[in-house]
Amino acid sequence: MPRARWYKRRRQEERRIKDRNLFKTVEEVFDSITMGHIYRLEARGIIWELKGVVSSGKEARVYWGKDKRGGDIAVKIYLSATAEFRKSIRKYIEGDPRFESIPRGNFRKLIYEWARKEYRNLVRLEKAGVRVPSPRGLSGNVIVMQFLGEDGYRAPLLVEAVEDATREELEGYYEDLLSQIEAMVCKAGLVHADLSEYNIMIWEGKPWIIDVGQAVLLNHPHSLEFLQRDIDNLTSFFQEHIGRSLRDEIGGALEQCLKEKAEA
Ligand SMILES: Nc1ncnc2c1ncn2[C@@H]1O[C@H](COP(=O)(O)OP(=O)(O)OP(=O)(O)O)[C@@H](O)[C@H]1O
Ligand SMILES: [Mg+2]
Repeated sequence: MPRARWYKRRRQEERRIKDRNLFKTVEEVFDSITMGHIYRLEARGIIWELKGVVSSGKEARVYWGKDKRGGDIAVKIYLSATAEFRKSIRKYIEGDPRFESIPRGNFRKLIYEWARKEYRNLVRLEKAGVRVPSPRGLSGNVIVMQFLGEDGYRAPLLVEAVEDATREELEGYYEDLLSQIEAMVCKAGLVHADLSEYNIMIWEGKPWIIDVGQAVLLNHPHSLEFLQRDIDNLTSFFQEHIGRSLRDEIGGALEQCLKEKAEA
């Protein structure tokens, strides 16, 4: 079974990393303010254990953990920000009326707003019926959400799953993503703005949309440009693998709802 093969491969690759990072990371990597946020979430039973690193990006780390009832959780923690990242996230925050503008130099506030934006986008998307990891809690720079994967091993991204997927499965993901994008735009009123095969995970046979920090409301000055880019990214991906053009097939439905939104 392709999915089982994928998990087996990951287990072999990740075992070493996981063992090395188990718990130690908590003391070594987090500053005391971040620890304070982790403790606050612990007091609420949202985080009970942090078990290992799932992904270590430039700005954020994602951990696998357990909640008080023993359920799996994903914990995304923003730890640092390069000048480039600060500049780019400002652009997404400042065009969004849900967030205040942040004084320059106030780095921590900027990161908190960014984490809050990601969390609120998750809540909004879930409410609109978009398949995203269910949000569980937020404190400062720490976001807790549903873990996509098994036994601490994350599910594959679309770009990884494509290796083992049948044409039929890819057709299924494609159709599903058409309706997810429609729900995102038409029901949630949000544009993802970084949608690609790298920010979609395949879990339980379905695509899940992740990494929604930069998603913006439709009234953001650049929302349509971002939407175009999202659609172009997925169009290239699916053109290559199943020869279908999302750009051509999604047009009608989106145009209608964008028109209705613009008139409202
Ligand atoms: N809910 C989740 N469950 C399991 N794994 C997750 C979850 N969310 C994210 N991940 C894993 O963590 C990675 C990074 O998450 P995300 O895309 O949200 O952060 P990012 O800021 O884009 O980080 P990067 O710079 O590494 O892409 C994902 O590619 C995925 O492998
Ligand atoms: Mg990402």
